[in-house]
Amino acid sequence: MIRILIAFLLLGSLNVKADEGMWIPMLLKKLNHEKMKKMGLKLTPEQLYDVNQASLKDAVVWFGGGCTAEVISAKGLVLTNHHCGYGAITALSTAKDNILDNGFWAKSYQEERPAPGITVSFLVRMDDISTEVLDSVKNLSEKDRAKRLPAIYKSITDRVTKGTTYEAQCREMFKGNAYYLFVFERFTDIRLVGAPPQNIGKFGGETDNWMWPRHTGDFSMFRIYSDKDGKAAKYSADNIPYTPKYFLPISLKGVNKGDFSMIMGFPGRTNRYEFSQGVQIATDMVDPAIVKLRDVRLNAWKEQMVKDVDVRLKLTSQFAGVANYWKFYRGEAEQLKNNKVFEQKQKEELAFGKWAADKTEYKNLLTDVSKAFEAYKPISLQATYLGEGISSPFISRMTAMAIAIEDAIAKGDDKTTEKVKSQMLASLDDIPFSGTIIDADKRIFDSILVLYCNNIPKDQQPKFVGEMIIKGNANSREAIKNYTNDIFTTSIFADMDMVKAWFKNPRISLLKNDPMYKHIKAFRNYYNDNFKPKVDEYNETTLALGRLYIKGLMEMQPTKQFYPDANSSMRLTYGIVSPYMKFPMITNLDEVIEKNIKFKGNPEFDVPQRLIDLQKSKDYGRYAMKDGKLPVAFLTDNDITGGNSGSPVIDGEGRIIGLAFDGNWEAMSGNIHFDPANKRTICVDIRYVLFLIDKYGQASNIINELKIVQ
Ligand code: ARG
Repeated sequence: MIRILIAFLLLGSLNVKADEGMWIPMLLKKLNHEKMKKMGLKLTPEQLYDVNQASLKDAVVWFGGGCTAEVISAKGLVLTNHHCGYGAITALSTAKDNILDNGFWAKSYQEERPAPGITVSFLVRMDDISTEVLDSVKNLSEKDRAKRLPAIYKSITDRVTKGTTYEAQCREMFKGNAYYLFVFERFTDIRLVGAPPQNIGKFGGETDNWMWPRHTGDFSMFRIYSDKDGKAAKYSADNIPYTPKYFLPISLKGVNKGDFSMIMGFPGRTNRYEFSQGVQIATDMVDPAIVKLRDVRLNAWKEQMVKDVDVRLKLTSQFAGVANYWKFYRGEAEQLKNNKVFEQKQKEELAFGKWAADKTEYKNLLTDVSKAFEAYKPISLQATYLGEGISSPFISRMTAMAIAIEDAIAKGDDKTTEKVKSQMLASLDDIPFSGTIIDADKRIFDSILVLYCNNIPKDQQPKFVGEMIIKGNANSREAIKNYTNDIFTTSIFADMDMVKAWFKNPRISLLKNDPMYKHIKAFRNYYNDNFKPKVDEYNETTLALGRLYIKGLMEMQPTKQFYPDANSSMRLTYGIVSPYMKFPMITNLDEVIEKNIKFKGNPEFDVPQRLIDLQKSKDYGRYAMKDGKLPVAFLTDNDITGGNSGSPVIDGEGRIIGLAFDGNWEAMSGNIHFDPANKRTICVDIRYVLFLIDKYGQASNIINELKIVQ
């Protein structure tokens, strides 16, 4: 009886199986369109991706290099997540004119604010360049191949962009079994149009991050400006709102369980073809180390941020970024274990091993993989402790910039030196090194050294640690404290004015005598001499073996459709609106207010009084659901990852129903293994977005620009 019941339950869960795959838009017609049609898509493959006529892909843009956005009006208005616009919104905020906390709605073009550093790139086209690239690397060793690739890429991108204003990128697919070219037009005059107060746009903060049920109004809006001819141009007051090739209409119809949903965007990185040993390194070594090291920065920053608005505004964007992946790695380690990903990978490898046993090309593959991991495991924390640890304090980052200038000078090319100098001076803007932030940085510097000494085996530490930091002191804690004090009183890098002066007029002798320079150089040189060759070897070997593994898997399962790992190139994932376990499929505004009451005193759950009033009066207009409540967020079973943030969630007719902004905690293992039972995408409902623009922000100018269909 119980058995029958279990069989039944299993069948039931198969029905709501999430849809795996981040597919290449150019190949949808060949690989996916039939299935998409069966699931509810009404559009032709050409309406999704075409290079000759306007298609959906022309409305989906790469936002700032780490997010996705979509064009939603004939005047170049783009919609993305609040957390994607966060850096720009905070950079435009001051204690006096605090648009981060108060929200911002431009009521005319004139009120829009140039957003520093934001870029928007349109994909002009993509091409399969596998033959050309693979021919050029034929018979090369992995090392030579890695060396050769940049030159091949450059010759291809130079060729296709010659005489145009386009930019191009080549990307490896299936770990180098295939290569694709992507041609972009990049716009840099981007202006902020609207954002809700962060109590709405980041409601739930770090507590709710990566979790469902969710109640975040995670959106912001920008506008693309072009020159008078509609071409990308740098900022000018004379630039005009851009007229796009295509923009997405918005649906007010709302979502129902089982509705078709697709998401187009720029997913950043996955590693779905990772070997079982790689899973072990993530769970046992690297992920916990990142969490431990990031804890240090977060605690020190938070202590200062709560005391002062200016300090909070200066640090909040970096805090959110560090906190986001602090929690990500905690979740990834936890869910890789919960979801038994190591065991699943082992099972897959076992099946592969059986199939490969009599095939010369593949039969040694898994043994070679084991050898590579055995050699790497003991040193697998080195790169993390250098990157996330020693190099992470602001003072270390500024020192690294000075070293970049030193390296440029050593090359003896004045033009390059000037370029690097001005780049580094500009990068200093990202480093808010003043007042109590210096106190925090000092604490970070100190605590990181303690972690380094405690967690990196003694025989893997540079002599510098014993000779210059601990100096034979029996109390190493005390020694690190003294060393930190010395650094922060004697180094030029402990003073922003001195750093700036040095960047403008770099005197190498001064640099070489600086204790911070000696510090960073000691750790870096030690890593470069002792570990880098081994780490490179591991990366090259596992890449080559991974490439062979994927090739073998494809031969082993000739009818299966494979998709390549995410690599920040444009992809499409399709699936359905789908609940998750016992949780609701859709959340509403009443629950926002309930959370606000339940977590009283926790600023992450504060809400503006105006939102409370609107909820009381239930004045939701056409944005309400059938039950009269206002939708906030919903779930789909689409396959996304970081970088997809801000992507449009699109129905079968090509209309926006929401914005993707997160994944659920139970599927945090998703970058390494897709788990159909657990994997969900968290989307902000487009009706909540429109309600906030319309009723909360009273920006009818924005609403009037949109193409809204019932
Ligand atoms: N987890 C979300 C993502 O990676 C980002 C959320 C940003 N918010 C935050 N609380 N740090 O797309």
